[in-house]
Amino acid sequence: MVRKSLYLPVLFVLSILISACSPQHVQEIISPSSNNIESAIIDNLDADKIYSNVKELSKEPRVAGTVSEKNAANFITEELETYGYSVESQPFDFDHYIFPKLVELTIEGFDKSFSPAPFQYSVSGNVTGELIYVNNGLTSDYENIDVRGKIAVATISDIYFEEMVLNAAGAGAVGIIINFKDDLQNTGWSLGKHHDDYIPTIALSTNEGKSLLNLMRDNESVTGTITIEGADIEKHESQNIIATKSSKNSGDEIVIVGAHYDSVESSPGASDNASGTAVLLEIARVLENVSNDKELRFLFFGAEELGLLGSKKYVDEMSKKEIQRTEAMLNMDMVGSADAGPLTIFTVDGFSNKVTDTAKTIQKIPLDFTDRSDHAPFQKAGIDAALFSYFPSEEWYHSPKDTIDRISKERLNEVASLVTNSVLKLSAQK
Ligand code: BES
Ligand code: ZN
Repeated sequence: MVRKSLYLPVLFVLSILISACSPQHVQEIISPSSNNIESAIIDNLDADKIYSNVKELSKEPRVAGTVSEKNAANFITEELETYGYSVESQPFDFDHYIFPKLVELTIEGFDKSFSPAPFQYSVSGNVTGELIYVNNGLTSDYENIDVRGKIAVATISDIYFEEMVLNAAGAGAVGIIINFKDDLQNTGWSLGKHHDDYIPTIALSTNEGKSLLNLMRDNESVTGTITIEGADIEKHESQNIIATKSSKNSGDEIVIVGAHYDSVESSPGASDNASGTAVLLEIARVLENVSNDKELRFLFFGAEELGLLGSKKYVDEMSKKEIQRTEAMLNMDMVGSADAGPLTIFTVDGFSNKVTDTAKTIQKIPLDFTDRSDHAPFQKAGIDAALFSYFPSEEWYHSPKDTIDRISKERLNEVASLVTNSVLKLSAQK
């Protein structure tokens, strides 16, 4: 690889300053300080370009594993290549759950009909057994109850659904019915992820749950059949897109800047997170011809909305040495909404670190905590990481209303300046 000359930043500033061409600027060229270089780079950020990239990316939802997520990945790759980067893709698989076509509960000898709901990740199956009430389905609930070959009937409490299912399966039950409580609907819930030990699992509404328990109370033995047909797991693929700007010495420290580019279903995701993606592209563009002492990595994460899958994959694949070399990680998520609160910086625990301290030297910014975005896997691996986001978030977050007309060019520019400036400061620190 051809190494960029040390004088590049100076030439770069020169060209910018000459184009600005005021006497004061000419004076500055004679002894350029690092401050001049920084402000010239920041002046080079183009808010119109960021905005038009948000517009392009938010033409349609970019759901992980779909063609439109892949199209977005290709768009990002092509942009980065025109800036001069060689770009890598890091593909990864994930489970995509297909909901069942048929979910039924029938009771032997009774023609009462139930309308059970599946959970996401409920497995297909056809199981028959005596119904046994197991309270909340905790491990302790099975100490004195024999459910082997039977169907457990449990009432929700504060333990995870997946724990209830695995406890019942562990105790030998062939299926489990989970009764809901008054204040909760019995649909739209998940068992988190596929597990080979799962047994057919259905949810009943409060009323249906009560009538099932009445039936069990009034009869010595009640036998039921759970039928779930058509539930399936498909393997889908997503990818992280990576552009690296090497430094003078291999083994130097690393500064990572990231954003996720996928969206949730039926949301064009202009704010969440075409905004962060477009700002990251622009930061990569203005830094491409700047000489840097630390390695810069621009990471565009796939499948964030499905549980930070892209950033977890990236961190999982980092070697111990690479993690040690990583000085900082700056994440941008929802950085353009005209209707959100002020620009805020977040760490997982709400404590300051190198990234928040650096940003604070540039502008006043509130500090809060969250683990709901891609900085979290990095911080959990021991890296000083933080999220930039306008907060409180817009109320149309994750909805079809997350469109380009609700994005503020000024806000895109504010975060682009702050993050670029922070990256420059972090990569200058020794
Ligand atoms: N952009 C959001 C996270 C977010 C929310 C950032 C509020 C800043 C302020 C992100 O895309 C998201 O929706 N995350 C999920 C959690 C994730 C682990 C799947 C969420 O918050 O529900
Ligand atoms: Zn997001």
